[in-house]
Amino acid sequence: MRRDDSIPAIATQLRYAQLCRKHLEEKGILDTRFRLQKLADATVALPVLSARVPELTLGVLQHSVAPGSTCTITHIQSPVPSKKSSVRSSQQQLEEALRGLVERGGEVWSEELGRDLPQSWKRHGDLAILGEATFRQPVWKILEPELWEAVASTLGVKRVARMGRVSTDGFRTPTVTLLRGQDGWVQHVDNGIRYEFDVTKCMFSSGNITEKLRIASFNCSGETVVDLYAGIGYFTLPYLVHAGASFVHACEWNPHAVNALRRNLELNGAAQRCQVHQGDNRQLSLCDVADRVNLGLIPSSEEGWPTACRLLKRETGGVLHIHQNVSSHPQKPDPALLLQNLCLQEVCDPSSPAGKAACDSDTADSRESALGLHCRDSMRITVKAEWQAWSKAAACRIAALLLEIKGQPWRTHVLHMEHVKSYAPHVDHIVLDLECRPT
Ligand SMILES: C[S@@+](CC[C@H](N)C(=O)[O-])C[C@H]1O[C@@H](n2cnc3c(N)ncnc32)[C@H](O)[C@@H]1O
Repeated sequence: MRRDDSIPAIATQLRYAQLCRKHLEEKGILDTRFRLQKLADATVALPVLSARVPELTLGVLQHSVAPGSTCTITHIQSPVPSKKSSVRSSQQQLEEALRGLVERGGEVWSEELGRDLPQSWKRHGDLAILGEATFRQPVWKILEPELWEAVASTLGVKRVARMGRVSTDGFRTPTVTLLRGQDGWVQHVDNGIRYEFDVTKCMFSSGNITEKLRIASFNCSGETVVDLYAGIGYFTLPYLVHAGASFVHACEWNPHAVNALRRNLELNGAAQRCQVHQGDNRQLSLCDVADRVNLGLIPSSEEGWPTACRLLKRETGGVLHIHQNVSSHPQKPDPALLLQNLCLQEVCDPSSPAGKAACDSDTADSRESALGLHCRDSMRITVKAEWQAWSKAAACRIAALLLEIKGQPWRTHVLHMEHVKSYAPHVDHIVLDLECRPT
Protein backbone atom coordinates (compact mmCIF):
# COMPACT_ATOMS: atom_id res chain seq x y z
CA MET A 1 0.00 0.00 0.00
CA ARG A 2 1.37 3.42 -0.96
CA ARG A 3 1.73 6.00 1.82
CA ASP A 4 0.93 9.67 1.12
CA ASP A 5 4.49 10.90 1.51
CA SER A 6 5.81 8.66 -1.26
CA ILE A 7 7.06 9.87 -4.63
CA PRO A 8 7.35 8.05 -7.97
CA ALA A 9 10.73 6.68 -9.02
CA ILE A 10 12.47 4.38 -11.49
CA ALA A 11 14.40 1.49 -9.93
CA THR A 12 17.52 0.12 -11.59
CA GLN A 13 20.64 -1.82 -10.64
CA LEU A 14 23.34 0.12 -8.75
CA ARG A 15 25.85 -0.09 -11.61
CA TYR A 16 23.46 1.59 -14.06
CA ALA A 17 22.11 4.22 -11.64
CA GLN A 18 24.43 7.09 -12.64
CA LEU A 19 23.92 6.55 -16.38
CA CYS A 20 20.13 6.52 -15.93
CA ARG A 21 20.22 9.49 -13.55
CA LYS A 22 22.18 11.55 -16.08
CA HIS A 23 19.73 10.71 -18.88
CA LEU A 24 16.64 11.47 -16.76
CA GLU A 25 18.16 14.78 -15.66
CA GLU A 26 18.96 15.78 -19.25
CA LYS A 27 15.38 14.97 -20.28
CA GLY A 28 13.92 16.97 -17.37
CA ILE A 29 12.30 13.85 -15.88
CA LEU A 30 14.46 13.51 -12.74
CA ASP A 31 12.98 15.05 -9.60
CA THR A 32 16.08 16.87 -8.35
CA ARG A 33 14.38 17.90 -5.12
CA PHE A 34 15.03 14.44 -3.70
CA ARG A 35 17.97 12.08 -3.26
CA LEU A 36 18.41 8.73 -4.98
CA GLN A 37 17.57 5.92 -2.58
CA LYS A 38 18.97 2.41 -2.17
CA LEU A 39 16.16 -0.12 -1.97
CA ALA A 40 16.05 -3.31 0.08
CA ASP A 41 16.73 -5.46 -3.02
CA ALA A 42 20.03 -3.53 -3.60
CA THR A 43 18.61 -1.60 -6.58
CA VAL A 44 18.57 2.20 -6.65
CA ALA A 45 15.42 4.31 -6.97
CA LEU A 46 15.73 7.48 -9.06
CA PRO A 47 13.01 10.02 -8.17
CA VAL A 48 11.00 11.17 -11.20
CA LEU A 49 8.57 14.02 -11.70
CA SER A 50 5.58 11.98 -12.79
CA ALA A 51 4.31 8.52 -11.94
CA ARG A 52 3.36 8.21 -15.60
CA VAL A 53 6.81 7.78 -17.08
CA PRO A 54 6.17 6.65 -20.65
CA GLU A 55 7.07 3.08 -21.54
CA LEU A 56 9.30 4.66 -24.18
CA THR A 57 11.54 6.17 -21.47
CA LEU A 58 11.97 2.81 -19.77
CA GLY A 59 12.78 1.27 -23.16
CA VAL A 60 15.35 3.97 -23.98
CA LEU A 61 16.99 3.48 -20.58
CA GLN A 62 17.16 -0.29 -20.91
CA HIS A 63 18.21 -0.49 -24.53
CA SER A 64 20.26 2.60 -25.37
CA VAL A 65 21.30 4.48 -22.23
CA ALA A 66 22.19 1.50 -20.04
CA PRO A 67 22.02 -1.69 -22.11
CA GLY A 68 21.60 -4.71 -19.87
CA SER A 69 19.81 -2.78 -17.13
CA THR A 70 16.37 -3.51 -15.75
CA CYS A 71 14.25 -0.41 -15.14
CA THR A 72 10.88 -0.52 -13.38
CA ILE A 73 8.49 2.01 -11.90
CA THR A 74 8.47 2.12 -8.11
CA HIS A 75 7.91 4.56 -5.22
CA ILE A 76 10.21 6.06 -2.60
CA GLN A 77 8.68 6.26 0.87
CA SER A 78 9.59 9.35 2.92
CA PRO A 79 12.00 10.80 0.33
CA VAL A 80 15.06 12.68 1.61
CA PRO A 81 15.58 16.21 0.20
CA SER A 82 18.56 16.42 -2.15
CA LYS A 83 21.71 18.33 -1.28
CA LYS A 84 20.78 20.87 -3.95
CA SER A 85 17.40 21.64 -2.42
CA SER A 86 18.74 21.82 1.14
CA VAL A 87 21.54 24.14 -0.05
CA ARG A 88 18.90 26.30 -1.73
CA SER A 89 16.85 26.54 1.45
CA SER A 90 20.00 27.23 3.55
CA GLN A 91 20.86 30.00 1.08
CA GLN A 92 17.47 31.60 1.63
CA GLN A 93 17.85 31.31 5.40
CA LEU A 94 21.34 32.80 5.18
CA GLU A 95 20.08 35.75 3.18
CA GLU A 96 17.25 36.36 5.67
CA ALA A 97 19.57 36.14 8.69
CA LEU A 98 22.20 38.43 7.18
CA ARG A 99 19.70 40.93 5.87
CA GLY A 100 18.43 41.26 9.49
CA LEU A 101 21.99 41.65 10.78
CA VAL A 102 22.83 44.33 8.20
CA GLU A 103 19.65 46.30 8.90
CA ARG A 104 20.04 46.04 12.68
CA GLY A 105 23.57 47.36 12.22
CA GLY A 106 22.08 50.51 10.60
CA GLU A 107 23.22 49.58 7.08
CA VAL A 108 21.12 49.23 3.94
CA TRP A 109 20.56 45.82 2.32
CA SER A 110 21.26 45.76 -1.42
CA GLU A 111 21.17 43.23 -4.24
CA GLU A 112 24.94 43.56 -4.42
CA LEU A 113 25.20 42.23 -0.85
CA GLY A 114 22.90 39.35 -1.83
CA ARG A 115 25.25 38.48 -4.70
CA ASP A 116 28.18 38.49 -2.26
CA LEU A 117 26.72 35.54 -0.32
CA PRO A 118 27.97 31.99 -0.92
CA GLN A 119 26.11 29.87 -3.49
CA SER A 120 27.59 26.70 -2.08
CA TRP A 121 30.05 25.59 0.59
CA LYS A 122 32.04 22.54 1.53
CA ARG A 123 31.34 20.90 4.86
CA HIS A 124 33.89 18.97 6.85
CA GLY A 125 32.05 17.91 10.03
CA ASP A 126 31.38 21.08 12.04
CA LEU A 127 33.43 23.29 9.71
CA ALA A 128 32.06 24.99 6.58
CA ILE A 129 34.44 26.30 3.93
CA LEU A 130 32.98 29.15 1.90
CA GLY A 131 34.00 29.99 -1.65
CA GLU A 132 36.70 32.50 -2.44
CA ALA A 133 34.50 35.21 -3.99
CA THR A 134 32.20 35.75 -0.99
CA PHE A 135 31.81 38.45 1.67
CA ARG A 136 34.03 40.86 -0.26
CA GLN A 137 31.91 44.02 0.35
CA PRO A 138 33.37 46.39 3.01
CA VAL A 139 30.19 46.31 5.11
CA TRP A 140 30.83 42.72 6.21
CA LYS A 141 34.03 43.74 8.01
CA ILE A 142 32.01 46.12 10.24
CA LEU A 143 29.67 43.30 11.21
CA GLU A 144 32.36 40.87 12.42
CA PRO A 145 32.39 38.78 14.62
CA GLU A 146 28.55 38.57 14.76
CA LEU A 147 28.56 37.98 11.02
CA TRP A 148 30.47 34.68 11.35
CA GLU A 149 28.32 33.60 14.30
CA ALA A 150 25.22 34.14 12.18
CA VAL A 151 26.75 32.27 9.22
CA ALA A 152 27.79 29.36 11.45
CA SER A 153 24.42 29.03 13.14
CA THR A 154 22.49 29.26 9.85
CA LEU A 155 24.66 26.62 8.18
CA GLY A 156 24.51 24.43 11.30
CA VAL A 157 28.28 24.41 11.96
CA LYS A 158 30.62 25.67 14.69
CA ARG A 159 33.56 26.79 12.54
CA VAL A 160 33.68 28.85 9.35
CA ALA A 161 36.56 29.29 6.90
CA ARG A 162 37.00 30.81 3.47
CA MET A 163 38.77 29.25 0.51
CA GLY A 164 41.57 30.96 -1.37
CA ARG A 165 43.52 29.69 -4.35
CA VAL A 166 45.64 26.54 -3.99
CA SER A 167 49.09 28.09 -3.81
CA THR A 168 51.85 27.28 -6.25
CA ASP A 169 54.41 26.83 -3.43
CA GLY A 170 55.02 23.18 -4.41
CA PHE A 171 53.15 22.06 -1.29
CA ARG A 172 49.84 22.94 -3.02
CA THR A 173 48.89 24.61 0.28
CA PRO A 174 45.34 25.89 0.17
CA THR A 175 45.02 29.48 1.32
CA VAL A 176 42.10 28.72 3.60
CA THR A 177 41.46 31.35 6.26
CA LEU A 178 39.67 30.46 9.46
CA LEU A 179 36.96 33.06 10.16
CA ARG A 180 35.42 31.45 13.23
CA GLY A 181 36.85 28.69 15.42
CA GLN A 182 40.14 27.79 17.10
CA ASP A 183 41.78 25.43 14.63
CA GLY A 184 41.33 23.97 11.18
CA TRP A 185 41.63 20.22 11.97
CA VAL A 186 38.81 18.21 10.43
CA GLN A 187 37.96 14.57 9.92
CA HIS A 188 36.80 13.05 6.67
CA VAL A 189 35.68 9.44 6.18
CA ASP A 190 35.98 8.02 2.69
CA ASN A 191 35.31 4.41 1.77
CA GLY A 192 35.87 3.32 5.37
CA ILE A 193 39.16 5.23 5.72
CA ARG A 194 39.52 8.05 8.28
CA TYR A 195 41.53 11.06 7.22
CA GLU A 196 42.33 13.95 9.57
CA PHE A 197 44.04 17.11 8.42
CA ASP A 198 44.23 20.85 8.99
CA VAL A 199 42.29 22.54 6.17
CA THR A 200 44.40 25.69 6.56
CA LYS A 201 47.64 23.76 5.97
CA CYS A 202 46.93 20.78 3.68
CA MET A 203 44.81 20.29 0.61
CA PHE A 204 42.11 17.67 0.37
CA SER A 205 41.01 16.87 -3.12
CA SER A 206 37.52 15.41 -2.99
CA GLY A 207 37.56 15.33 -6.81
CA ASN A 208 39.99 12.41 -6.66
CA ILE A 209 37.42 10.08 -5.11
CA THR A 210 37.08 7.98 -8.30
CA GLU A 211 40.83 7.34 -8.31
CA LYS A 212 40.82 6.45 -4.60
CA LEU A 213 38.04 3.94 -5.27
CA ARG A 214 39.91 2.51 -8.24
CA ILE A 215 43.05 2.02 -6.14
CA ALA A 216 40.93 0.42 -3.43
CA SER A 217 39.79 -2.15 -6.00
CA PHE A 218 43.37 -3.19 -6.97
CA ASN A 219 44.83 -6.41 -5.65
CA CYS A 220 48.30 -5.44 -4.42
CA SER A 221 48.92 -8.32 -2.05
CA GLY A 222 52.61 -9.14 -1.83
CA GLU A 223 53.50 -5.83 -3.49
CA THR A 224 55.70 -2.95 -2.40
CA VAL A 225 54.24 0.37 -3.49
CA VAL A 226 55.88 3.80 -3.52
CA ASP A 227 53.59 6.82 -3.31
CA LEU A 228 55.78 9.68 -4.50
CA TYR A 229 53.30 12.48 -3.65
CA ALA A 230 51.56 11.13 -0.56
CA GLY A 231 49.97 14.29 0.88
CA ILE A 232 47.86 13.27 3.89
CA GLY A 233 47.58 9.71 2.55
CA TYR A 234 44.80 10.05 -0.05
CA PHE A 235 46.25 7.19 -2.10
CA THR A 236 48.68 5.63 0.42
CA LEU A 237 45.80 4.57 2.68
CA PRO A 238 43.60 2.90 0.03
CA TYR A 239 46.73 0.93 -1.06
CA LEU A 240 47.26 -0.25 2.52
CA VAL A 241 43.70 -0.64 3.78
CA HIS A 242 41.80 -1.94 0.74
CA ALA A 243 44.28 -3.02 -1.95
CA GLY A 244 46.26 -5.05 0.62
CA ALA A 245 49.74 -3.78 -0.36
CA SER A 246 52.42 -5.46 1.76
CA PHE A 247 54.34 -2.25 2.25
CA VAL A 248 54.11 1.38 1.13
CA HIS A 249 56.90 3.96 1.05
CA ALA A 250 55.14 7.34 1.27
CA CYS A 251 57.08 10.43 0.18
CA GLU A 252 55.99 13.93 1.16
CA TRP A 253 57.85 17.20 1.70
CA ASN A 254 55.18 19.37 3.36
CA PRO A 255 55.74 18.94 7.14
CA HIS A 256 52.05 19.67 7.89
CA ALA A 257 50.95 16.98 5.45
CA VAL A 258 53.53 14.59 6.95
CA ASN A 259 52.00 15.22 10.41
CA ALA A 260 48.54 14.42 9.11
CA LEU A 261 49.82 11.40 7.15
CA ARG A 262 51.44 9.85 10.27
CA ARG A 263 48.26 10.49 12.25
CA ASN A 264 46.09 8.90 9.53
CA LEU A 265 48.32 5.83 9.30
CA GLU A 266 47.86 5.35 13.07
CA LEU A 267 44.12 6.06 12.93
CA ASN A 268 43.65 3.36 10.29
CA GLY A 269 45.98 0.81 11.89
CA ALA A 270 48.41 0.87 8.93
CA ALA A 271 51.51 2.52 10.43
CA GLN A 272 53.45 -0.75 10.69
CA ARG A 273 53.30 -1.29 6.93
CA CYS A 274 54.35 2.18 5.87
CA GLN A 275 57.56 4.14 5.93
CA VAL A 276 57.18 7.89 5.60
CA HIS A 277 60.03 9.64 3.77
CA GLN A 278 59.90 13.32 4.60
CA GLY A 279 61.64 15.53 2.04
CA ASP A 280 62.05 16.02 -1.69
CA ASN A 281 61.32 12.67 -3.37
CA ARG A 282 63.93 13.42 -6.06
CA GLN A 283 66.58 12.97 -3.31
CA LEU A 284 65.21 9.59 -2.22
CA SER A 285 68.02 7.05 -1.81
CA LEU A 286 65.79 3.98 -2.34
CA CYS A 287 66.00 2.06 -5.59
CA ASP A 288 64.90 -1.30 -7.11
CA VAL A 289 62.16 -1.84 -4.49
CA ALA A 290 58.83 -1.10 -6.15
CA ASP A 291 56.21 -3.25 -7.86
CA ARG A 292 54.13 -0.11 -8.30
CA VAL A 293 54.78 3.63 -8.14
CA ASN A 294 52.02 6.18 -7.73
CA LEU A 295 52.74 9.61 -9.20
CA GLY A 296 49.75 11.68 -8.02
CA LEU A 297 50.84 15.19 -8.86
CA ILE A 298 49.04 17.55 -11.22
CA PRO A 299 49.34 19.41 -13.52
CA SER A 300 52.27 17.06 -14.14
CA SER A 301 54.38 14.53 -12.29
CA GLU A 302 57.08 14.49 -14.95
CA GLU A 303 59.76 15.74 -12.58
CA GLY A 304 59.26 12.48 -10.64
CA TRP A 305 59.64 10.11 -13.63
CA PRO A 306 63.41 9.47 -13.22
CA THR A 307 62.87 8.67 -9.51
CA ALA A 308 59.96 6.35 -10.36
CA CYS A 309 62.13 4.51 -12.89
CA ARG A 310 64.94 4.10 -10.34
CA LEU A 311 62.43 2.69 -7.85
CA LEU A 312 61.03 -0.09 -10.08
CA LYS A 313 62.43 -3.55 -9.31
CA ARG A 314 65.36 -4.22 -11.66
CA GLU A 315 64.50 -7.90 -12.21
CA THR A 316 60.73 -7.81 -12.61
CA GLY A 317 59.71 -4.18 -13.19
CA GLY A 318 56.21 -3.02 -12.31
CA VAL A 319 53.44 -0.52 -12.99
CA LEU A 320 53.52 3.29 -12.87
CA HIS A 321 50.32 5.28 -12.24
CA ILE A 322 51.08 8.63 -13.81
CA HIS A 323 48.77 11.62 -13.26
CA GLN A 324 48.68 14.44 -15.78
CA ASN A 325 46.43 17.29 -16.84
CA VAL A 326 46.08 17.01 -20.60
CA SER A 327 44.70 19.86 -22.72
CA SER A 328 42.68 18.96 -25.74
CA HIS A 329 41.14 20.51 -28.76
CA PRO A 330 37.41 21.29 -28.56
CA GLN A 331 36.79 19.59 -31.93
CA LYS A 332 36.15 15.89 -32.33
CA PRO A 333 39.42 14.01 -32.84
CA ASP A 334 40.27 13.01 -36.35
CA PRO A 335 39.87 9.18 -36.62
CA ALA A 336 42.96 9.00 -38.82
CA LEU A 337 44.98 10.71 -36.08
CA LEU A 338 43.54 8.29 -33.51
CA LEU A 339 44.62 5.28 -35.53
CA GLN A 340 48.01 6.80 -36.22
CA ASN A 341 48.54 7.39 -32.49
CA LEU A 342 47.52 3.89 -31.60
CA CYS A 343 49.83 2.43 -34.24
CA LEU A 344 52.69 4.59 -32.99
CA GLN A 345 52.33 2.64 -29.77
CA GLU A 346 54.27 -0.03 -31.63
CA VAL A 347 57.33 2.21 -31.61
CA CYS A 348 57.58 1.71 -27.84
CA ASP A 349 56.35 -1.82 -27.80
CA PRO A 350 56.99 -3.68 -31.05
CA SER A 351 56.06 -7.02 -29.51
CA SER A 352 52.86 -5.83 -27.83
CA PRO A 353 49.84 -7.93 -28.81
CA ALA A 354 47.60 -5.10 -27.58
CA GLY A 355 49.32 -2.61 -29.86
CA LYS A 356 48.90 -4.98 -32.80
CA ALA A 357 45.26 -5.71 -31.97
CA ALA A 358 44.60 -1.97 -31.73
CA CYS A 359 46.03 -1.35 -35.19
CA ASP A 360 44.05 -4.25 -36.65
CA SER A 361 40.76 -3.04 -35.15
CA ASP A 362 38.41 -1.11 -37.35
CA THR A 363 36.30 0.82 -34.85
CA ALA A 364 37.44 3.44 -32.35
CA ASP A 365 35.77 1.42 -29.58
CA SER A 366 37.54 -1.82 -30.33
CA ARG A 367 40.85 0.03 -30.72
CA GLU A 368 40.29 1.64 -27.32
CA SER A 369 39.52 -1.62 -25.63
CA ALA A 370 42.42 -3.38 -27.34
CA LEU A 371 44.70 -0.85 -25.71
CA GLY A 372 42.84 -0.92 -22.41
CA LEU A 373 41.87 2.72 -22.75
CA HIS A 374 38.57 3.13 -21.02
CA CYS A 375 36.67 5.35 -18.67
CA ARG A 376 34.29 4.42 -15.91
CA ASP A 377 30.91 3.36 -17.37
CA SER A 378 28.99 6.01 -15.47
CA MET A 379 30.96 8.85 -17.07
CA ARG A 380 32.08 7.41 -20.33
CA ILE A 381 34.05 10.00 -22.23
CA THR A 382 35.55 9.32 -25.60
CA VAL A 383 39.27 8.79 -25.24
CA LYS A 384 40.70 11.86 -26.84
CA ALA A 385 43.45 11.84 -29.42
CA GLU A 386 45.45 14.20 -27.22
CA TRP A 387 45.38 11.75 -24.29
CA GLN A 388 46.63 9.03 -26.56
CA ALA A 389 49.31 11.24 -28.02
CA TRP A 390 50.41 12.18 -24.51
CA SER A 391 50.40 8.57 -23.28
CA LYS A 392 52.40 7.44 -26.28
CA ALA A 393 54.99 10.16 -25.65
CA ALA A 394 55.09 9.28 -21.91
CA ALA A 395 55.54 5.56 -22.68
CA CYS A 396 58.44 6.33 -25.04
CA ARG A 397 60.08 8.81 -22.64
CA ILE A 398 59.88 6.32 -19.78
CA ALA A 399 61.28 3.49 -21.91
CA ALA A 400 64.24 5.78 -22.69
CA LEU A 401 64.70 6.72 -19.02
CA LEU A 402 64.62 3.05 -17.99
CA LEU A 403 67.25 2.15 -20.57
CA GLU A 404 69.47 4.97 -19.30
CA ILE A 405 68.92 4.27 -15.57
CA LYS A 406 68.86 0.47 -15.55
CA GLY A 407 71.41 -0.01 -18.36
CA GLN A 408 69.26 -2.49 -20.32
CA PRO A 409 66.20 -2.26 -22.63
CA TRP A 410 62.75 -2.18 -21.06
CA ARG A 411 59.33 -2.54 -22.64
CA THR A 412 56.59 -0.04 -21.68
CA HIS A 413 52.98 -0.88 -22.32
CA VAL A 414 49.81 1.19 -21.81
CA LEU A 415 47.52 -0.88 -19.59
CA HIS A 416 44.76 1.64 -19.02
CA MET A 417 43.90 5.31 -19.07
CA GLU A 418 41.57 6.65 -16.39
CA HIS A 419 39.71 9.93 -16.60
CA VAL A 420 39.61 11.48 -13.11
CA LYS A 421 37.93 14.80 -13.77
CA SER A 422 37.58 17.62 -16.27
CA TYR A 423 38.61 21.18 -15.75
CA ALA A 424 36.87 23.61 -18.05
CA PRO A 425 37.72 24.34 -20.74
CA HIS A 426 39.24 21.25 -22.35
CA VAL A 427 41.66 20.19 -19.65
CA ASP A 428 41.34 16.67 -18.27
CA HIS A 429 43.03 15.09 -15.29
CA ILE A 430 43.92 11.59 -16.39
CA VAL A 431 45.92 8.70 -14.94
CA LEU A 432 48.03 6.51 -17.20
CA ASP A 433 48.71 2.97 -15.94
CA LEU A 434 51.99 2.06 -17.60
CA GLU A 435 53.45 -1.42 -17.30
CA CYS A 436 57.25 -1.39 -17.43
CA ARG A 437 59.22 -4.65 -17.73
CA PRO A 438 62.85 -5.44 -18.51
CA THR A 439 63.07 -7.33 -21.82
C1 LIG B 1 48.29 16.93 -5.24
S1 LIG B 1 48.95 16.87 -3.66
C2 LIG B 1 48.46 15.39 -2.97
C3 LIG B 1 48.20 14.48 -3.84
C4 LIG B 1 47.26 13.39 -3.63
N1 LIG B 1 48.00 12.33 -4.21
C5 LIG B 1 45.94 13.81 -4.33
O1 LIG B 1 45.92 13.90 -5.56
O2 LIG B 1 44.94 14.05 -3.67
C6 LIG B 1 50.62 16.60 -4.01
C7 LIG B 1 51.48 16.42 -2.81
O3 LIG B 1 52.80 16.21 -3.27
C8 LIG B 1 53.71 16.89 -2.45
N2 LIG B 1 54.93 17.10 -3.25
C9 LIG B 1 55.04 17.83 -4.40
N3 LIG B 1 56.30 17.73 -4.89
C10 LIG B 1 56.99 16.92 -4.04
C11 LIG B 1 58.34 16.44 -4.01
N4 LIG B 1 59.22 16.78 -4.97
N5 LIG B 1 58.70 15.63 -3.02
C12 LIG B 1 57.81 15.26 -2.04
N6 LIG B 1 56.53 15.70 -2.01
C13 LIG B 1 56.12 16.51 -3.00
C14 LIG B 1 52.95 18.16 -2.06
O4 LIG B 1 53.42 18.68 -0.85
C15 LIG B 1 51.51 17.64 -1.94
O5 LIG B 1 51.19 17.27 -0.63
